[in-house]
Amino acid sequence: MTAWTERFRELEPDWTRAPSAHNTQPWTVDYAADEVVLGWDRARELPAGDPDRRDLFLSLGAFLETCLIVAADAGLRVRPEVELRERQFARLLAAAEVYPTPYTRATVRARGCVRGALRHPGAVPGVPGAEGRLVELSSTQLRGQAATADRWLFSSGPVVRELRAWLRLTPRHPRYDQDGLTDRCLGLSRLEAVGLRAVLALRLNRPLAPLLAASGGAVLEPEHPVLVFTGEAAGPEALIGAGRELVRIWYGLTQEGLAVHPCSQLIDCPRTAAALRDRLGATPLAVFRVGRPAAPAPRSARRQLRPAGYRPGRTAP
Ligand SMILES: Cc1cc2nc3c(=O)[nH]c(=O)nc-3n(C[C@H](O)[C@H](O)[C@H](O)COP(=O)(O)O)c2cc1C
Repeated sequence: MTAWTERFRELEPDWTRAPSAHNTQPWTVDYAADEVVLGWDRARELPAGDPDRRDLFLSLGAFLETCLIVAADAGLRVRPEVELRERQFARLLAAAEVYPTPYTRATVRARGCVRGALRHPGAVPGVPGAEGRLVELSSTQLRGQAATADRWLFSSGPVVRELRAWLRLTPRHPRYDQDGLTDRCLGLSRLEAVGLRAVLALRLNRPLAPLLAASGGAVLEPEHPVLVFTGEAAGPEALIGAGRELVRIWYGLTQEGLAVHPCSQLIDCPRTAAALRDRLGATPLAVFRVGRPAAPAPRSARRQLRPAGYRPGRTAP
């Protein structure tokens, strides 16, 4: 390991703050002589909920961008090379310059999803890099669609089973501090978390939607801004690029004191995805509520990465 890869490794608690769907943290990181190899763990894919791997590659793009921001803030001269191979998607290499970015480790640490109440942000501020890619809709326009998307989501046995595997509804869960979606992050009260565990244990899907309302469209306040990020979904490289842009937008909103709540079910459900595509004349890649959080975002769990040389197996979640 060289000095910069060693230093980069020390910054793991910051660059692993990148967001990922269901908080699966699908990334793997391997250290070579003078480079860092970024890949992903098949066991952390979501084959039922994300069969096209849209969210996987968006999440990996968000991770790559977060690595670059954290390295830049520490003064490390690093550049990315996106290169898709078997379970490998990019390399970080020594560069002549520090990666240019307006964001810092403080931005990365401050970002977080808020699924509960969000106050109206007034006019949504423009953020660098979002030009032409971000469409603002009103929650009122999406209310019926959100309900349709939720019904679709919770009526699929495999999707619900997969979601269940990533839920951490009690601090006694063995992976509560490592990955997945905790009761706190979903904004569930103690009673709601207990109720949800009971419903899941009984394998009842029907009451799931209201119980998970805090993380779905049912919390869409009237006349609240919902942003749709559009772009090319043509292949992993395009999605990795889009994931980098998406997280830059989230960091830009963080700098403005705003938080987001992604509502991907609107683009997972074929009917609501098609309706959005027709309305916008573009492919939606991410949909999220945006607003001023009433309280700071709950801190989501992160796992510590394995030592260099570890080969991922089928152990998660
Ligand atoms: C591509 C992508 C899709 C996501 N979709 C959803 C979603 O549909 N609903 C949701 O509540 N959170 C969604 N999230 C947010 C993740 O669950 C969140 O990033 C993760 O739990 C870690 O929490 P944090 O972002 O607060 O650190 C998504 C995140 C990404 C990167």
